[in-house]
Amino acid sequence: MTSPQRQQTMHGSAQTALYIEDLTVEFDGFRAVDELTLLVDYGGIHGIIGPNGAGKTTVMDVITGVTKPRAGTVLLDRTHDVIGMHLSDRAAHGIGRKFQKPSVFEHLTVRENIALGVREYPDSLLREVLRGGGPAKRARVDEVLDTIALAAVADAEAGTLAHGQKQWLEIGMVLARDPRVLMLDEPVAGMSNTEREATAELLQRLRSPERAILLVEHDMQFVGQVSDRVSVMHEGKLLADGTMDQVTSDPEVVRVYLGR
Ligand SMILES: Nc1ncnc2c1ncn2[C@@H]1O[C@H](COP(=O)(O)OP(=O)(O)OP(=O)(O)O)[C@@H](O)[C@H]1O
Ligand SMILES: [Mg+2]
Repeated sequence: MTSPQRQQTMHGSAQTALYIEDLTVEFDGFRAVDELTLLVDYGGIHGIIGPNGAGKTTVMDVITGVTKPRAGTVLLDRTHDVIGMHLSDRAAHGIGRKFQKPSVFEHLTVRENIALGVREYPDSLLREVLRGGGPAKRARVDEVLDTIALAAVADAEAGTLAHGQKQWLEIGMVLARDPRVLMLDEPVAGMSNTEREATAELLQRLRSPERAILLVEHDMQFVGQVSDRVSVMHEGKLLADGTMDQVTSDPEVVRVYLGR
């Protein structure tokens, strides 16, 4: 028997943000995720592609705690057992996610939406209440507004934004907490070409050696453009893993996904 400490050092390298091993999720006996093993590294953008129902969103559901797996391991930084963590602990550990359907607060301004996501700084609570946040919090909100390129519409009600801008705002709400693991589920769905290009540029700005970005997206051109590494899922299993060129020339990937 190896000691727990010894095992932990075996779970990936120093770059490993998420270590997922033999993950299995069942819904009434149906295997939505089937013994999936996947390592997600810091510093890059990791794309997950695959047909509808492949289990992509379910993997994010497990990492965020929406769904309990039947079996398997998910470790953050090779040591923290994510599956056993409380929902609030996951956020405190820097796990952030933008869901498939955007859900901004339509009647709050863009700035207020982002402020909701900012982790509380140890400013005076009174000042927080009276002035809507201390200097550290306001600085963080401004920083996020710049990153998501919505500073010009900071005081507009979120409900007045275009579809693409709402998606960026929602990324901003997640970004406000400065997540170390950032999960994006279909961020460019329904976007125009111009919006998609702007989103590609936004994702480049989100890259950091201290952040791992997990991107689920059907738009292959977009995934290829922004991702360092791509995993292909099919029927809950990992079908291929590598660069976009490598996975798209894999005969199995062509057969079950690209050839349709
Ligand atoms: N809460 C649930 N209860 C029952 N079945 C579910 C549940 N969530 C997902 N499933 C099923 O699990 C499978 C995987 O779903 P999932 O949403 O993870 O796929 P996906 O790869 O994200 O697909 P898409 O590209 O269409 O978003 C599907 O067959 C889906 O119907
Ligand atoms: Mg999905």
